[in-house]
Amino acid sequence: MWKGRFQQPTSALVQRYGESVSFDWRLYAHDIRGSIAHAKGLEKIGILTTDERQSIEDGLLGIKADIDAGSFTWSIELEDVHMNIESELTKRIGPAGAKLHTARSRNDQVATDIRLYTRDAIDQISHLTRDLQRALVECATRGQDAIMPGYTHLQRGQPVYFAHHLLAYVEMLDRDASRLADTRKRLNVLPLGSGALAGSTIIIDREFVAQQLDFDSVTQNSMDAVSDRDFAAELLFDIALLGVHLSRLSEDIILWASAEFGFIALADAHTTGSSLMPQKKNPDVAELTRGKSARLIGNLTALLTLLKGLPMTYNRDMQEDKEPLFDSLDTINLALEVFAEMVSGMDVNREKTAAAASDPLLLATDLADYLVTHGVPFRQAHEVIGKLVHHCLEVGTTFHDLTVADYQQFSPAFESDVTTVLQMDVALAARQGIGAPSPKNVASRLAQWRETLSV
Ligand code: ARG
Repeated sequence: MWKGRFQQPTSALVQRYGESVSFDWRLYAHDIRGSIAHAKGLEKIGILTTDERQSIEDGLLGIKADIDAGSFTWSIELEDVHMNIESELTKRIGPAGAKLHTARSRNDQVATDIRLYTRDAIDQISHLTRDLQRALVECATRGQDAIMPGYTHLQRGQPVYFAHHLLAYVEMLDRDASRLADTRKRLNVLPLGSGALAGSTIIIDREFVAQQLDFDSVTQNSMDAVSDRDFAAELLFDIALLGVHLSRLSEDIILWASAEFGFIALADAHTTGSSLMPQKKNPDVAELTRGKSARLIGNLTALLTLLKGLPMTYNRDMQEDKEPLFDSLDTINLALEVFAEMVSGMDVNREKTAAAASDPLLLATDLADYLVTHGVPFRQAHEVIGKLVHHCLEVGTTFHDLTVADYQQFSPAFESDVTTVLQMDVALAARQGIGAPSPKNVASRLAQWRETLSV
C-alpha cells in the first residue's frame, strides 16, 4: 500500500509484530459499512461515478458475504482488516476499488469502525443488562415474602426483604444501562473525513456521510478525531463498573450458597461438583464472574495507560486499543448472559433467611426509635438500648423474654406497648419512607420494575 517510498520489503518479523488483522478482522462488517458510506460521499462530489460507486458497493458486499461464510482468506502481509478488504476489493473490481481511499486515511477509517462497532456492542450489552434485571425481578417476585437480615460489615443489622436486597442490584444495573446510553450518545459522532490528521483538500459532505451511518453529528477537529479513544475508555469504564456490580452480587451469592448461610439454592445446572469431594456443589459461575471482573478493570487500566503518553495525533500504539476492548466486550456479554440464566434458577430458602432474621437484636434500632417516639433524645435512647443489649447477652435472654417492668428498669419511657415493636411484621411495615423496605414499598417497587422491564 505504501510501496512507492520504499526500496526494501517489510521484514517478515516486523509484519508479524505489527499485524492486527488476527484480531481486528472483527471490525469487518463495520469497516464495510463505513466504506460504502464513504463511497456515497465520493459519488456525491463526483470523484466516483454512480457505476463505480455501485461496483464498489457490490464488491464490498460480496467480500462481506465471503467473510460471513468463513471463506475469506486474511493475510498478515496486508496488516489489518482495512487493507485486507481494500486490496481484495481492488482485486475483484479493478480500478474503481483503487479510488475508494480518496480523502480517507486508515486513521479516520479505524476511528469510524471502532465507533460503529462499539455502538452496536453497547446496544447488545444494554439488552443483556435488561435481561439480567428481569431475572432478578423474577427471582425477587418468587421470594417476595422472604425476610432476611440486612448486613453492614457483614454483621446482622436490620431486617429487610430478600426482594429488597435483590432490587438493590436492579437499581445498580439500571445506572449501568443509563451510563451505557450516555456513552453511546457521546460516541455517536462521525470522525470520517478527518483524514490522517488534517482532513483533505477534497471536500466530502461529512454530514451526509454521517446520516448514512446513523451518526448524530460529525467531529469538529480533525486532530482530535483521529486520536480520540475517549469513547472506548468510557465504555471500558462502564463495563468495569458493571463487572464490579456483578462481582458484588457474586460475593453475596457465594456467601448465601454456603451451608453457614444457606439462604439460596442454585440449580444443579449452574453449579459444579468436586472431582474429589462427592458432597460438593460449588457456585463456580459466581466465582468466575468475581474473578473475571478483575480483567475488566485491567482492560480499562490498559487503555488509559496506553493513551496517557501519546502526543497528538494518531500513534501506532493505538492499535493496542482493540484487544482490551474486545476482551471486555466478550467477557461482559457472557457474564451477563450466564448470570441471567443462573439467577433464573436461583431460589431463596425462606426458612433459613427467616431463622437468621429472627435474631431479636435486629430490632434493637426499632427499640431505640420507640423511645424516641416516647420523648427520649436519640443519643440517650441509643445508650439505653445498648445497655439493654448488653444485659440480654450477659444473662442469656432476649428482648422477647423481658417483661415491661424489666424494660422500665432501663428507662421509665417504656410502656406496655413496647412488645409490639418486637414483632417482625410490625417492624417491617413501619419502614415506610421512600426507598425503605416496608412490604408495601417493596411490592410497589417490584411492580414498577415489572412494568419498566415488561416482565
Ligand atoms: N490498524 C491500525 C490501528 O488499528 C490502523 C491503521 C493506521 N495505521 C497507520 N500506520 N497510520 O490503529
